[in-house]
Amino acid sequence: MSILDIEVYPAPVLKQVAAEISRIDTEIRELAEDMLETMHQAPGVGLAAPQVGRSIALIVADPSTDKTTPPVPIILANPEIISATGEISMVEGCLSVPDYSAEVPRRQKIVVKAITLDEEEIEMTLEDFPAIVIQHEIDHLHGKLFIDRISRLKRNIFERKLKKGTLA
Ligand code: NI
Repeated sequence: MSILDIEVYPAPVLKQVAAEISRIDTEIRELAEDMLETMHQAPGVGLAAPQVGRSIALIVADPSTDKTTPPVPIILANPEIISATGEISMVEGCLSVPDYSAEVPRRQKIVVKAITLDEEEIEMTLEDFPAIVIQHEIDHLHGKLFIDRISRLKRNIFERKLKKGTLA
């Protein structure tokens, strides 16, 4: 296993739409392991393949809470939100957007369809924090960052501070 380099905004790969994974092979399994290790070391609660420079639809997450269902860690290929209800928001950060956080509106409950590393098609229902984490990671696969979901005003302030190097 190895720790991977994390791509940081405005790296172009973070804006790309990730390619669907057609086959789960050793390379994908090893990448998932490395992503988990990289995420835990960072530390973070989720990581998407584009964040380590691979524009493919693979995410890992470890949104551990007392009553987390389903069990963690979560490793999903080709995840897709097939239903979303309710509203929730929380202050989010991202390993690809260091030294910045902001409140982001999300859906409170989602149903996600995906492929596991055993090449099984699954559906999982997530609520609250785990739902937020998975929405954030799936956004990465669409070339979208949490800073794309904040107000124009907050985004302008962020860009200005980033330019001046005064984010931290
Ligand atoms: Ni992120």
